[in-house]
Amino acid sequence: MKTQYDYKIVKYFTLASVFWAIFGMSMGVFIAFQLVYPDMDFGMEYFTFGRMRPVHTTGVIFAFAGNILIATSLFILQKTCDARLSHPRLARFIFIVYQCSLLFALIGYMFGITESKEYAEPEWYIDILIAIAWISYLYLYLSTLSKRKEKHIYVANWFYLAFIIIVAILHVGENLSIPISWTKSVAVFSGTQSAMVQWWYGHNAVGFLLTAGFLGMMYYFVPKRVGKPVYSYRLSILHFWGFLFLYIWAGAHHLHYTALPDWVQSLGMTMSIMLWVPSWGGMINGIMTISGSWYKLRQDPVLRFFVIALAFYGMSTFEGPVLAIKSVNALSHYTEWTISHVHSGTLGWVSMISFGALYHMVPVLWGKRDIYSVQLINAHLWFASVGIVLYITSMWAAGIMQGLMWRSYDDMGFLRYAFIEIVSLLQPYYMTRAIGGSLFLVGALIMMYNIYKTICSNDDANKRNESEEDEALSCRIDN
Ligand code: HEM
Ligand code: HEM
Repeated sequence: MKTQYDYKIVKYFTLASVFWAIFGMSMGVFIAFQLVYPDMDFGMEYFTFGRMRPVHTTGVIFAFAGNILIATSLFILQKTCDARLSHPRLARFIFIVYQCSLLFALIGYMFGITESKEYAEPEWYIDILIAIAWISYLYLYLSTLSKRKEKHIYVANWFYLAFIIIVAILHVGENLSIPISWTKSVAVFSGTQSAMVQWWYGHNAVGFLLTAGFLGMMYYFVPKRVGKPVYSYRLSILHFWGFLFLYIWAGAHHLHYTALPDWVQSLGMTMSIMLWVPSWGGMINGIMTISGSWYKLRQDPVLRFFVIALAFYGMSTFEGPVLAIKSVNALSHYTEWTISHVHSGTLGWVSMISFGALYHMVPVLWGKRDIYSVQLINAHLWFASVGIVLYITSMWAAGIMQGLMWRSYDDMGFLRYAFIEIVSLLQPYYMTRAIGGSLFLVGALIMMYNIYKTICSNDDANKRNESEEDEALSCRIDN
């Protein structure tokens, strides 16, 4: 008998991810303009750059990326395992607890309630909520997996499972602290240990939250969209284990030239350079899956999102190991070059693959044959692509200029430029970034409208029939 998938909760997480994408990116645009016009805080401490920056990062990482990861993981899990969600009520519980924790965290930052640790800003009471939601999510995932009718566990699910387990470990390790009041706690680690734990967490949050789960997405949606199996199943296994083994060691590249023992810094650098290999293995696997079907790019704008995402995955995982080399990091660290790298990964890879996944998933979830407007998908693609290019090239140029000017000395050995001189030179670059970010946001707003129209349309010709549902399992082929 045909399995009736539980789409209800997947729909909730999907809608939440669209909402948070718009929210998080709007906050990004807001802080980007604040760097051009520093007075743009309306004279209130709630809107200062220092408080709004974590509102942006939490809004995009945990809210947008977190929700789309949960939505796609539960969608793909049911499809590739031929199993219905084991505990639908638990899934709804996770949804409510997760959204509440996001909301409390974001409001807290604006009131100055923060642990002041990058990407782990929420205070202890929110950390507990997140831990409850996450452990429940792990249980839901494993119990559904154990109910599967398919013997084989498709590779996308391995990446999702690694993402869920490792994020749970990171969250607990990073947030070990002692509450001293209702809104304040003190971390268990201090000094160099605290820095090391922070970047073990921070780097692996990038690796497992912003990458592993999205690779799961890639391994499902790319073969699905192309209509053939993944290029090499063996390569995906190498990709998985290489990725898992190497990422965990690389965090020290965030702490070059600090009080961290030198050998730990060198270890971080070496592992980062090695990480290039599995990363490109995965990227090549994705691209080779499309190879032979390039003509489909002409017909299918959603596939274009996946190709661009893969290209940016390749670029950011090439740039990352370069930045991890100590002598390069001596130039890039503290500069906008890092910000360029961050956004080539997050806009180019994370957001583009998510947009593609949304365009694929929304019609399936709401029983439609296709998305409302293909022209609007194309418009989105252009706004997003031009936006990314403006963002990353301006920050790249600004960063290298900044780094070179900081280390420029005159014949007497004095610094050639005052710090403030360099800051004022950055204004045109900041403006270009703000414009690029705004274009990217306009693209996301177009997507939101297209999704809204798809969901609300009553067009009978656009109704999906049963056999089209079945076809969704065809990516399960091993080779
Ligand atoms: C092989 C893969 C990668 C390596 C080796 C790598 C390496 C690096 C290095 C060396 C830095 C600069 C550290 C510093 O100077 O402070 C950095 C920063 C960063 N990277 Fe990557 N990167 C990789 C891929 C990615 C991807 C794919 C993303 C996003 C999806 C990403 C997101 C970030 C973020 C958010 C930061 C800034 C962290 C912070 O200082 O707050 N990286 N990365
Ligand atoms: C409309 C799009 C976006 C704009 C305009 C934007 C803008 C910004 C700005 C201005 C900063 C602060 C940079 C600084 O302190 O110098 C920032 C930081 C950051 N953004 Fe975005 N952003 C956007 C989208 C995203 C997305 C989609 C993600 C993740 C999925 C993301 C992740 C981050 C991260 C991790 C940082 C901190 C980087 C670091 O500390 O090195 N951003 N963003």
